[in-house]
Amino acid sequence: MAPAPRNHAADDSDLDSNAPLLPAPVPSSTSPAASSSDLHHNTSRSRGRIAWAWVVLGCFGVGLLWLAFGTSYLDRRDRDERWEDDPAFPSRVGYEGPTPTGKEAFAAATSYPVNFDSSPLNPPAPSRAFNILHHLGNLSPWRTVNHGLRTTAQVPAGCTVEEVQLLHRHGARYPTTGAGPAAFAKDVVGAEGFKGSGNLSFLNKWEYKLGAEILTPFGREQLFNLGVSFRTKYGHLLDEGKKPVFRTESQDRMHASALNFAAGFWGIPFEDKYHQLVTIEWPAFNNTLSPYMTCTNANRLDLTRGPRKMALWMKQYLEPARVRLQEQVEGVELSHRDLFNMQLMCAYELVALGGSAFCPLFNEDEWRGFGYAHDIEFYDIFSFGQPAQAAVGKGWVQEWLARTLKQPLGEFNSTTNSTLHTSQYFPLDQRLYVDATHDTIISAVITTLGFSSFARSGPLPSDRIPDNLSFVTSSISPFAANLHSQVLSCPVEGRDDGETARFVRWILNDGVVPLDVIEGCGDNRDGMCPLDTFVSATQRRLASIDWAHDCLAQYDLPKEPINDGRPPHA
Ligand SMILES: *[C@@H]1O[C@H](CO)[C@@H](O)[C@H](O)[C@H]1NC(C)=O
Ligand SMILES: *[C@@H]1O[C@H](CO)[C@@H](O)[C@H](O)[C@H]1NC(C)=O
Ligand SMILES: *[C@@H]1O[C@H](CO)[C@@H](O)[C@H](O)[C@H]1NC(C)=O
Ligand SMILES: *[C@@H]1O[C@H](CO)[C@@H](O)[C@H](O)[C@H]1NC(C)=O
Ligand SMILES: *[C@@H]1O[C@H](CO)[C@@H](O)[C@H](O)[C@H]1NC(C)=O
Repeated sequence: MAPAPRNHAADDSDLDSNAPLLPAPVPSSTSPAASSSDLHHNTSRSRGRIAWAWVVLGCFGVGLLWLAFGTSYLDRRDRDERWEDDPAFPSRVGYEGPTPTGKEAFAAATSYPVNFDSSPLNPPAPSRAFNILHHLGNLSPWRTVNHGLRTTAQVPAGCTVEEVQLLHRHGARYPTTGAGPAAFAKDVVGAEGFKGSGNLSFLNKWEYKLGAEILTPFGREQLFNLGVSFRTKYGHLLDEGKKPVFRTESQDRMHASALNFAAGFWGIPFEDKYHQLVTIEWPAFNNTLSPYMTCTNANRLDLTRGPRKMALWMKQYLEPARVRLQEQVEGVELSHRDLFNMQLMCAYELVALGGSAFCPLFNEDEWRGFGYAHDIEFYDIFSFGQPAQAAVGKGWVQEWLARTLKQPLGEFNSTTNSTLHTSQYFPLDQRLYVDATHDTIISAVITTLGFSSFARSGPLPSDRIPDNLSFVTSSISPFAANLHSQVLSCPVEGRDDGETARFVRWILNDGVVPLDVIEGCGDNRDGMCPLDTFVSATQRRLASIDWAHDCLAQYDLPKEPINDGRPPHA
């Protein structure tokens, strides 16, 4: 029997990349059952569940994968064919009227619009200054944030944009397979003898309404809006008569996100405007947009302190809520994990149903605690605090460099796939590139790029929220998160002969990323670094990341904390 494909982080269950059926197999010696599972799960009921799931998933994994993904592929194919072929409802009847369009927009140069749109979500507002949606970690909807620089991403006066590369996450989704909310519905509310009173009476009639994995309607809206926003900001960079390649991978929510982006970006019909490359996300496939599938060490439970630290933090920040809510429940003893699952339920019901009765059960401090639990999780499992994360992001950063320098990759020694590195699938002459990926890849890529201003608060403590916390997941990897680079050409200061110099800057969720932490870049209030300087620093960083070692070698988690996403002395 093959080992059950299961990601160590699946117990936390609100991650993109942790669908237990998907990631690369974890060696059984590092399985959750063999290590700190009691810290993961404070109830024996969930331990039993996990052990059982291991057996079943191991035996029937392949069949389930087909049921989950293969059949939805067939459904989709059938639907498309029916839609195309129905002569009773032709899609083109002529008589469109005049259709002249205008010149391409370039709002990045003129006004740089910001984004605070969370309609139609309707969270309760405990106070005017507090918005729950900002404290949901990777389950927050994206919004314009800043990362410490007092500047907008508007193109500085006099500069022109030569190239933009966008790496974005999918939009809001249902919980991933086997996630906490479903377990809460079944094992707590569904337990024999369960009865809620007071603020929890609603649970006596409550019904679990969430799906799994795929985009919610709000998630579709987010990607459509992101497409509109990028067309308005950067449409100017399109080359007439040339169809660009945009990339995504094969998971349903990823593919659907790319198509919703395209609908917003191009307008409908969009199919003939560009090429959508769909690469395979599956265990053992090389893919820079789902690189954990070949980086075994990224999935090893014994290589992260994250789950243990999260459990400690939950015990602390959720204890008052546990006491308070237990008084309103009969028949079940609530664990801290159950309380965390109730907070997850609020987050998911908000982005799926628009509102949630779970949200008002928690106060502002408890929401800050919930957000911070995700910061520990992302820092220690998917970013600076885990030793294989710089290697996880290496493939995409190699591709970023290839496009920036217009030099094809010569070697395929990370998660890149040589089959897809032809001029057809990986062109180097676009001025605007769009790639769709997961939350955990954005947090890995900022590690690979060495954006260490986000690591300033590291290692993150498990007993308090640091002041001026530098790593905030809802600002880094929220739903529809977007990281993009601008290559700029600007006049050389003090000269009026038209001499220009090239710079780069990085923009994460509309906030300009400080680059003074990159060797040689220096301080720049607009977040710009001379392109050559940044390229050399990135080449050195990539050369220092030994993908094969970091991802595949058998090494132990060192005693001293990791803050650069690499094993020590490697
Ligand atoms: C019920 O919730 C309200 C706020 O929504 C709170 O003021 C009240 O104290 C709660 N009752 C209990 C028993 O927790
Ligand atoms: C590379 O991508 C192609 C096309 O998606 C796929 O057929 C092939 O299996 C991939 N190779 C690896 C090593 O993942
Ligand atoms: C990996 O490939 C890059 C070029 O893409 C090269 O510079 C580097 O030396 C290679 N690293 C290893 C460990 O083979
Ligand atoms: C896939 O990645 C491995 C590890 O970097 C590499 O050895 C292999 O050549 C890659 N395969 C392709 C088709 O690029
Ligand atoms: C918070 O961090 C930023 C970025 O490093 C720094 O500029 C600022 O001075 C810090 N503020 C406080 C109050 O520590």
